[in-house]
Amino acid sequence: MKLSIFTATAVALALAHAGPASAQAPIVIKFSHVVAPDTPKGKGAEKFRELAEKYTGGKVKVEVYPNSQLYKDKEELEALQLGAVQMLAPSLAKFGPIGVKEFEVFDLPFILPNKAALQRVTDGALGKKLFDLLAPKGMTGLAYWDNGFKIMTANKPLRMPEDFRGLKMRIQSSKVLEAQMRALGAIPQVMAFSEVYQALQTGVVDGTENTASNIYSQKMHEVQKYATLSDHGYIGYAVIVNKKFWDGMPADIRTQVSKAMDEATKYANSISQSENDEALADIRKVGKTEIITLTADQKAAWRKALQPVYEDMSSRVGKSVIEEFLKEANAGTN
Ligand code: LMR
Repeated sequence: MKLSIFTATAVALALAHAGPASAQAPIVIKFSHVVAPDTPKGKGAEKFRELAEKYTGGKVKVEVYPNSQLYKDKEELEALQLGAVQMLAPSLAKFGPIGVKEFEVFDLPFILPNKAALQRVTDGALGKKLFDLLAPKGMTGLAYWDNGFKIMTANKPLRMPEDFRGLKMRIQSSKVLEAQMRALGAIPQVMAFSEVYQALQTGVVDGTENTASNIYSQKMHEVQKYATLSDHGYIGYAVIVNKKFWDGMPADIRTQVSKAMDEATKYANSISQSENDEALADIRKVGKTEIITLTADQKAAWRKALQPVYEDMSSRVGKSVIEEFLKEANAGTN
């Protein structure tokens, strides 16, 4: 008798819960990323959360997990494919391990003359073609988010290619970045972003490359004595969703979420430069890192040392991809 009252109560509670509550249960988008909230990507993710929840009237709930709280670089892509999270914004240098190596075109040394060129590529035919490669991997590309040009850091000044000789340099998981470091005479070490600070601090690696906002928000400048403003490479992101999840979303909700993504993208891309400028100013202010600006001759020496990377990597990234990239990037210059 006792048991049946308990059972009846439990059933009644379950029914009450399953009624109106489940009709309103929000669609949850778990958005995982590896950087700090106070970065261009971190702020873009927050803006998307705010807008997606607003435009869907709370029918969508976005949970943002920054700083590799849930997953590190490689694991997050696997988690997205498995549906454990629904949205990510990995750096374009991290798609090689899942078999989409064409994104590594963005890692080629000095491939982007400026941000206007970047926009022509990401908004153009190639940007779309690259996203099409994600569908067979169970992913849909929604947007390109900007971060910025990379800085090289170490505990010795890096002015000429010779200065890299024998240095262990942390890189993201891109074969193009591996070839870049080898062309400079360094020893590349692939490592998850969340492990870089400690590796620099303990001397597991000697140096690294990243944007000012990533360096500052991870405190890498506190353990690196020199930073060279080389602009040799670029970091940007592909915002991606689990394809099955995205396709299965009610069409009206997907329209609102897409609108939120478009606006968050405009926002993220509008703040990236100023976020990096501020971070660089903050690094200078802390005063632990000497900031080096290359002379024209030094920069020419970097370009010369790094030019062979294009040839070495053309079979991996695709000759036609590189050509199309260069054509679109340089379209505005003639
Ligand atoms: C890195 O791993 O160095 C960065 O690309 C991390 C990020 O997402 O900006």
